[in-house]
Amino acid sequence: MTDGIELLRANRDRLVELIDRFAQATVLVVGDLTLDEFLNGEVERVSREAPVLILRHEETQQIPGGGANAVYNFAQLGAKVKAVGLLGKDIQGEALARLFSAAEIDTDGIFWDVDRPTVTKTRISGHSRQSVMQQIVRVDRKSNELPALELQQQLAAYIRDQIDQVDAVVCSDYGDGTLTQPVIEAALEHPRTIVDSQKQIPRYQDAMIFTPNLPEAELAVGYAIENAESLSRAGRDLLRLTHAQYILITRGEQGMALFDRLGNEQHVPAFNRTKVFDVTGAGDTVVAALTLGLIADATVWEAVVLGNLAASIVVRRFGTTTTTAAEMKAELEKMIERSELSAVPNR
Ligand SMILES: Nc1ncnc2c1ncn2[C@@H]1O[C@H](COP(=O)(O)OP(=O)(O)OP(=O)(O)O)[C@@H](O)[C@H]1O
Ligand SMILES: [Mg+2]
Repeated sequence: MTDGIELLRANRDRLVELIDRFAQATVLVVGDLTLDEFLNGEVERVSREAPVLILRHEETQQIPGGGANAVYNFAQLGAKVKAVGLLGKDIQGEALARLFSAAEIDTDGIFWDVDRPTVTKTRISGHSRQSVMQQIVRVDRKSNELPALELQQQLAAYIRDQIDQVDAVVCSDYGDGTLTQPVIEAALEHPRTIVDSQKQIPRYQDAMIFTPNLPEAELAVGYAIENAESLSRAGRDLLRLTHAQYILITRGEQGMALFDRLGNEQHVPAFNRTKVFDVTGAGDTVVAALTLGLIADATVWEAVVLGNLAASIVVRRFGTTTTTAAEMKAELEKMIERSELSAVPNR
């Protein structure tokens, strides 16, 4: 069977045992904290001030995005999370802090940045009376400046202070300036550091594992990954560039490839390629389930399988970018059951 279900069936009891241990983990996540905002309304008419639509506001949704989505994924999977990062002194920052507190996320490591706004992406969408919602425009708030040196040092000091009390450190770097060199150096003092970074991956020397997606891996190695050969080469080059123990390249609907220092390369197919609705944020879910697997004493391969299982749940849901331990166990059983049913010969 090539759909990867065999892998789940052979490891069912072990995977359930590992998922059951997620709640015992304490993780520190340093990330570019982002607020995703959705403003929805019904189209009333065309304005007289300008040739634009006027929407009657119906609802505003606010959810954690970017590194904040990584933080949120850990909390939803049942782990204790210490969030580390920066929020602007604005209503968006307050909204994100409230979302975190409601999810019982420790926010002692979040510092208020008076110079820069909370990174916010606001999607404005409209629908007419009997049509589906459609995005009209997106408004981004962010600064191109780096945080003040003093803030960078405060983040680094907080990380150092907590490092002995957490089971892993995760860097969720969306390129918005939270992860500057002093912060990265502090994070890398933990022996189990998981790095998910969009840019400049080699800044994180000697981390345990990196989880780039395909475009991020291509950017880091400087060539296109278009076949099995260039994929293997990229895995090896990334290990050499970072001195990491493992590289996990996530490949969207193609699943994932894991590389280690002994020259081994393992592939896991995407578990659920039908009914995929929304793949945004799946990478953050992979990182969370993978990390909690590692803390629960999984082998790296078992942790990768758990990451893949968690991702297969969130890609089928519109707008939901998290899952829970209970859902992961239910999905595992469902996938095994379904494959057993389809394996019964027709009479
Ligand atoms: N179309 C798909 N069908 C099935 N599974 C998918 C699909 N897209 C993504 N996945 C699952 O999600 C994992 C991560 O996806 P991807 O490689 O797109 O990460 P990413 O680009 O880092 O995501 P993010 O938007 O969170 O940054 C994949 O390895 C796979 O398990
Ligand atoms: Mg990603």
